Amino acid sequence: MTTATPVSLNEAVLNEALSGLTASPKVLSPWLFYDERGSELFEAITDLPEYYLTRTERALFATHADDILREFLTPGAPASQSFHSHDTFTIAELGAGSATKTGLLLQAATRLQPNLLYQPIDVSASALEAAENLALTIPGLNVHAQVANYVTEPYTLQHPCTSGNGNGNGHQHGPRSRVLALYIGSSIGNFSPEEAQAILHRLRSHLQPGDALLLGADLAPSAHKPISTILSAYDDAAGVTAAFNLNILTRLNRDLDADFNLDAFSHRARWNANESRIEMHLESLIPQTVHIAGQRIPFAQFETIHTENSHKFTDEALNDLLTRSGFTPTRTFHDPTRSFALTLAHTL
Ligand code: TRP
Repeated sequence: MTTATPVSLNEAVLNEALSGLTASPKVLSPWLFYDERGSELFEAITDLPEYYLTRTERALFATHADDILREFLTPGAPASQSFHSHDTFTIAELGAGSATKTGLLLQAATRLQPNLLYQPIDVSASALEAAENLALTIPGLNVHAQVANYVTEPYTLQHPCTSGNGNGNGHQHGPRSRVLALYIGSSIGNFSPEEAQAILHRLRSHLQPGDALLLGADLAPSAHKPISTILSAYDDAAGVTAAFNLNILTRLNRDLDADFNLDAFSHRARWNANESRIEMHLESLIPQTVHIAGQRIPFAQFETIHTENSHKFTDEALNDLLTRSGFTPTRTFHDPTRSFALTLAHTL
């Protein structure tokens, strides 16, 4: 695994905490969730009965892995047609986490191409260890993991040469492998529309003609999908999401020697219809003052720290976002209730 900038981590946490908590309204950046404990809690969220997103997206991979790969390699080909593409390819993933869903696609891909290179990128080194372990269970898979915050730090995508060993460095002769980039789990929804476009646009700049992006996104409420279903995915009965949200304060206590009293804050999930998003907040239950690196941070009773947004999209909004970011949407895969979408978009 390669690590981008290990030394600056606490400095980044400190900058983020001080700028966010002295702002009005108070806000913290969601990447702060994903320390070791946060990544574990997020894994637990993905198993919750209320959290339909992971289950639905996994079912889409289970049903459509071959269709996705066929459409990537030969856009527009009928499903009945067997594979004839002679192009080699590699799969990269932004925000891979432990990559459990991706395993289904990687398995299908290694059937088409033994010696497949998988390039997961994630801010959490501990989550990437699980992604690296996929090489132990999927024969022929090579994993090249990068620890990087794909929003703020540089990352690289390899287009290995086909004349190499499938794990080349791009300096040999021969055509380059095509890249299928994955950005799934509706992580795109955790950013503002402007940030989302910047992330996709940057990803686009790492890609070449013939490459593609598979974007996984949670869909907006509809006749088949009441708001209450979406809300309970972010406020589960067992309190795992609450623990995940509050863990951000535990992290600040540990990394910055802050003195948040965890019993004096509570998890809140709200639907914001104007922005088509779920908002996560930490609400101060009492008036109080918290100390971070010698700074006093006052809280009024019921004042909140806005910790996360989870935007919910229409297919049209996803196609617009992809087009504005330099991609050409080619096909969307839906679950039967149209709760979730996997959109494949090519680079021309
Ligand atoms: N990408 C996930 C989502 O928006 C992240 C997430 C799930 C999350 N549950 C959360 C973020 C709770 C913060 C709090 O669904």
